[in-house]
This record gives sequence, structure tokens and C-alpha cells, in this order.
Amino acid sequence: MKMLFYAAKTYDKKSFDPELSDFPDIEIEYIEHELDPRSALLAKGYEAVCAFVSADVGEKTLQVLKDAGVKAVLMRCAGFNNVDAKKAEELGIAVKRVPAYSPEAVSELAMALALAVNRRLYKAYNKVRENDYSLKNLRGVNMRGKTAGIVGTGKIGAYMCEQCRGFGMKVIAYDLYENESLKDYVTYVTLDELFERSDLISLHCPLLDSTYHMINIDTIKKMKDGVILVNTSRGALISTNDLIEGIRMNKFLGVGLDVYEEETGNVYEDRSDDIMEHSVTSRLLSFPNVMITSHQGFYTMEALSAIARTTLQNFMDVINGKHTQNDIY
Ligand code: NAI
Repeated sequence: MKMLFYAAKTYDKKSFDPELSDFPDIEIEYIEHELDPRSALLAKGYEAVCAFVSADVGEKTLQVLKDAGVKAVLMRCAGFNNVDAKKAEELGIAVKRVPAYSPEAVSELAMALALAVNRRLYKAYNKVRENDYSLKNLRGVNMRGKTAGIVGTGKIGAYMCEQCRGFGMKVIAYDLYENESLKDYVTYVTLDELFERSDLISLHCPLLDSTYHMINIDTIKKMKDGVILVNTSRGALISTNDLIEGIRMNKFLGVGLDVYEEETGNVYEDRSDDIMEHSVTSRLLSFPNVMITSHQGFYTMEALSAIARTTLQNFMDVINGKHTQNDIY
């Protein structure tokens, strides 16, 4: 059984190849191209394709895959907002994902971003390298005693709650479905109350029509001055233009983003020699209180092996006609 692995990086090969010994029927061909309507043509002769967060798994791509005889799209990630699930179902292409691989990996990065922007670690690191030992512009706040507002208390958000509690913070949360296992120390509030009360706001809900631009100028205005905002979920939860307006209003002590609206095209690419015309991201990066990482929340050894094992098992399940909780429809 053959899988065409799109947008392959060296680390993908390093995490998938060792797992293949437990899946002797699977053969993987790695290619660097991103999956899109044109590169989908390459999948002729493969039972499955494996894709990642920045792939275009829209209507056109799915149609080309169907015509090429592909039976399954295996997403090696949790989010699947880039997949047209309705079209896939209509065409009878199975789509599976890896709903949980290492939620701790993402929540730990969220906390790292919160701490880094609070204490301006990115500036401190560069200052000391330049023999500048002054404390200018490095003052932060204590986390202990502050209020953390967690939006979405699923797998990742739950760990973020636990971490915030570990830092001695009060933890409040908003979710459509309350997580009973957190209620010893998490108080659920309305989204408005969360915006109004939190010193740290961390986003851990999926990107849906209902959550698109949930952080916009109206919600930013409800936040406390000096709030820290962290997004490790999906870029379009935040309106970048409104965020820039909010930063200019001096609303934020710090903003830490592992995901942002313009990331497609950037993610995992070295664009250091490119001139970024019209880039709203460059404008964001011009602020001293913003730190952006490039979708690296998942990037730990434990998470990579879990992703590889689950993706290969998903392939076996498709071949064996087995439906599991990893199906996206
Ligand atoms: P999950 O499905 O376990 O939890 C999501 C939670 O959000 C659920 O409890 C759900 O009820 C809640 N939710 C849904 N709609 C909501 C709304 N309108 N308002 C508030 N809460 C709402 O998902 P998990 O594994 O915790 O992942 C969260 C997000 O993190 C994913 O959707 C994905 O976009 C992102 N992610 C980012 C990664 C990275 O590398 N930066 C890696 C993995 C996931």
C-alpha cells in the first residue's frame, strides 16, 4: 500500500521511517511539494496521500485526488480547517487526522510564549549577545496571583489550565462544553467576562465559522490594559488588522503567536531573503511586545513519533474499512 507524503521535511522522514517496521505493508514516498490542485496529480498510483496544516485540501484538490484513484487523505495534524470535509464525503475519500498526539507539546509552547513576551526574553537574549547588560525595556509582571483566561478547554486547553495553576494563577475558562475534570480549580465564565477579567488570554479552540476573528477590535476593547494574548491554535481566530490597532492602543503587555493569518506560504519555509511586500505580519513584527514562532507547537520528539504511529494506523484502518474517532466526517 503506497502513500504519497506531501511537503516532507527531514524531520518527517526521521519520525515516520522508524515506525514503518510495525507497518510492513505500507510504503512511503516523500516529496517536498505542498498538496494543492496541481500537485495532487502526482498522487496517481497511490492509495493515500499524507498532508499537513498548510496543504490545500479543498474541492479542486479532492476532485483531482479522486480522479487519480486516491482513497484516503491522511492529515498528520489535529486541525483540519483546510479540508473540505463535505466534498471528501461526497467523493467517498476517507479523511483521517491525528486528533491528539501530545497536547502538552502545544500547551507548553503557549506557556513559553506567555513567559517570553512577559519578560521580553527575545530582547534580553539579543541584548546580552551585544554586550548590553542594561535592563531597559525588559520589565514584566509576576504570573503568580494573576488571572489566566483559557478559551477552549479540550485536550490542549486543559493542560494550559494545569500549567497556569502550577504558576499560582487563578484560572477562568470559556468553552461551549465545560470540562468536568477541571472544575476543582477552573471557573467557567462567559467569553465577555473572560476578556474583561484575564491578565493572560490563551486561545485553544478550533477555527470554525463561529470562532473566525473571535479576537477583533470589539473584543480587544473589552480586555484589560496590559493583557498578554497567546494564540497557538489557528491564525484566523484573531483579526490581524484589529490586533495591530489594539497594540497601537497600548492594550497588550505582550502578544505571543505560534499561528497567524498570513502563515500559509511561510510555514516551514526559509524566506529570509524574500522582500515581503504587503505583509501584515512584518507590521506585527515591528512591535516590541510581539513574538511570533512558526507553527512549532507540535514540534517535540514525543509528538512527532505519536503523529507518525497514528497516521500509519489511520492508513491501515482505511484499508481495513475501519471507522474510528480519527475520521473527520
Ligand atoms: P480539542 O478538540 O481537544 O479542544 C477544542 C476545544 O474547543 C473543545 O473543548 C471545544 O468544545 C472547544 N470549542 C469549540 N468551539 C468553541 C468556541 N466557539 N468557543 C470556545 N471553545 C470552543 O482540540 P485540541 O487538541 O485541544 O486543539 C485545539 C486547537 O489547537 C486545534 O483546533 C488546532 O487548531 C490547534 N493546534 C495547534 C498546534 C500547533 O502546532 N500550534 C498543534 C495542534 C493543534
